[in-house]
Amino acid sequence: MRIAMIGTGYVGLVSGACFSEFGYDVVCVDKDADKIARLNQGEIPIFEPGLEQLVANNAAAGRLTFTTDLAAAVKPADAVFIAVGTPRDEYGGHADLSYVYSAAREVAEALDGYTVVVTKSTVPVGTGRKVEGIIRETRADAEFDVVSNPEFLREGAAISDFMRPDRVVIGAESERAEEVMRHVYRPLFLIETPILFSSLETAELTKYAANAFLATKITFINEMADLCEKVGGDVHDVARGIGLDGRIGRKFLHAGPGYGGSCFPKDTEALVQTAKEFGAPTRLVETVVEVNEARKESMADRVMEQCGGSVDGKEIAVLGLTFKPNTDDMRAAPSLAIVPALMRAGARVRAFDPEGMEAAKALLDGVVWCNDAYETLEGADALVIVTEWNQFRALDLARVKALMRDPVMVDLRNIYRPEDVMAAGFRYSCIGRPVRQTEIQP
Ligand SMILES: NC(=O)c1ccc[n+]([C@@H]2O[C@H](COP(=O)([O-])OP(=O)(O)OC[C@H]3O[C@@H](n4cnc5c(N)ncnc54)[C@H](O)[C@@H]3O)[C@@H](O)[C@H]2O)c1
Repeated sequence: MRIAMIGTGYVGLVSGACFSEFGYDVVCVDKDADKIARLNQGEIPIFEPGLEQLVANNAAAGRLTFTTDLAAAVKPADAVFIAVGTPRDEYGGHADLSYVYSAAREVAEALDGYTVVVTKSTVPVGTGRKVEGIIRETRADAEFDVVSNPEFLREGAAISDFMRPDRVVIGAESERAEEVMRHVYRPLFLIETPILFSSLETAELTKYAANAFLATKITFINEMADLCEKVGGDVHDVARGIGLDGRIGRKFLHAGPGYGGSCFPKDTEALVQTAKEFGAPTRLVETVVEVNEARKESMADRVMEQCGGSVDGKEIAVLGLTFKPNTDDMRAAPSLAIVPALMRAGARVRAFDPEGMEAAKALLDGVVWCNDAYETLEGADALVIVTEWNQFRALDLARVKALMRDPVMVDLRNIYRPEDVMAAGFRYSCIGRPVRQTEIQP
């Protein structure tokens, strides 16, 4: 089995490396020559736990190679995966499919013998058919099938998600294509992973439905957290109380500053657009998008409130910038709404993130960049925890307090127990949990 992976980003690189780990010959292609040069030198352009070793092992075994030469990778391939970006376009939330279509054109030109062209990128319903049309238009003589195989991996746990997924979804409409895909995923059949075959449209929609559902779940618990704050409830206990119900499930019930990342924001918006176009509006998802956007920015108000109503002239220490821990991905991270809102309100922001600083520097102006958590806290009037990296979970609170000008902590990820932080002498706020400030000890 020979595989060409077009696009060597978070999904393409992980999928390519994992397919090579299955024992297949994989060529990863990217048009970013710098990225390919780094990969050829054994450097991994993204932060993803375990990926460096996986790539190194398979590259050393000769099963995994990297190139900018798309045609050379596609010609001998049995399956070509398109894993290029589908970002939010500039016109109102549609998915920008220009990278997918241009990759499809390039792939078409290089096809040689029967090949399965698989869209792994997250693409709106109907894209697979369009890719099919593009290939046919470009190469009337090509022998191919288009398959949809959306990816469900999570950054930060991408390798185990790929190797042991909850399920694999495959939209394939010919027996020949199905056979190739069965071969590709044979190692997962062996561990009894549910592999769902469907039409192209069903597979494409399944990915959006999954992300919209998860985004809704997060938004739901965030609203319950807000209500808890008003009525004196504890959202942790509410989440546990509902999550133990098998019909609901415990995952994705962590209240926080709103979802971000490279998928949920753009995919929920794209689903809303698709649904409107087809005359079946998803009003629930429309509301989720709106509520979540407003929530991210409103997190700055929480900080101001905790700082006595204003952050003007204050030093705010921000720990964590990436949209979640264990990734360096800054796309649509809540920090990108919170930090500018604090600065507009007159704060000076000092920040640290274990892996996301390089990407963050390009997106956030005027921040004082620090080398670790404690340096960030020097002279700060408030500490805001935006991303729950493990290294922020057990800070030495006495040391933190001694470093800060004013011991104020706003924990947007609920990683501390209110009683512990207040016992250490902080003014503390978190999301949806009762905090009795009277317990503060001087
Ligand atoms: N990041 C995730 O966690 C995740 C999870 C599931 C699905 N997805 C979906 O997978 C797709 C890829 O996401 P990503 O985060 O890996 O994107 P990314 O932006 O990290 O990577 C895309 C790569 O494709 C390359 N590229 C673009 N056009 C190309 C072309 N014609 N030829 C060769 N290379 C080309 C780019 O240079 C880039 O390196 C998106 O549709 C995304 O929604 C992402």
